[in-house]
Amino acid sequence: IESLFVPQILKGKKILITAGPTFEAIDPVRGITNRSSGKMGYALAHAAACAGAEVLLISGPTALDTPLGVHRINVESAADMLNACLPHVAETDAFIAVAAVADWRVDSPATQKIKKQHADDVPHLSFTQNPDILHTVAQQPNAPYCVGFAAETENVLEYGQAKRLKKGIPLLIANNGPATFGADDNEVVLLDNAGEHPLPRQDKAQLAHRLIAEIAKRLTTK
Ligand code: CTP
Ligand code: CA
Repeated sequence: IESLFVPQILKGKKILITAGPTFEAIDPVRGITNRSSGKMGYALAHAAACAGAEVLLISGPTALDTPLGVHRINVESAADMLNACLPHVAETDAFIAVAAVADWRVDSPATQKIKKQHADDVPHLSFTQNPDILHTVAQQPNAPYCVGFAAETENVLEYGQAKRLKKGIPLLIANNGPATFGADDNEVVLLDNAGEHPLPRQDKAQLAHRLIAEIAKRLTTK
């Protein structure tokens, strides 16, 4: 219903979105993860679908329903998320990386549950860095228009622009975390090669429509 009233600015476009956290197993019942409710990524998937796009949402574990008209693939680990994305990259017009990807995974997760023994007998885990999904997608031949998200706890503008350049992407949407984690609203700044474009604090659903408009505009002039 909503789509009847939304300008079809992404009609005929294919949009790939990652959302939610990733989960990296320690053993079959434990793991490490990142803080992300998935709300922002799901709101963007919904807004993109309303704007007429064909949307594929690759999601880590969340408690959210799939937005109407969105195709969803569920994954757990960062490696799974990358593998789920890659086959779709060549046909994608825009890739929006909203997932809070765990930066490290546990080396050789235990195949059976690790049992607690003495109080001083704690597991000593070692870690390997996960692949950077956004950077990997941005480096593909014929890469889609790539958009990143970053929550920084300090120096948002400076760290954000440095991150955008390091990832080799045209647009990064930055905010000041962790205040927005799980919240229904968000305040972001768009960082591109023209500089900083702050947006007012607003509801994530409303913000998603605005961000989709910003992305659509850049997509057609890229
Ligand atoms: N990202 C990704 N794959 C990763 C890490 C991050 O695709 N392994 C994406 C996120 O989805 C987000 C953007 O990169 O769109 C920025 O994530 P962030 O965690 O802020 O960047 P990092 O490069 O991991 O830097 P940091 O050390 O600040 O965590
Ligand atoms: Ca990170």
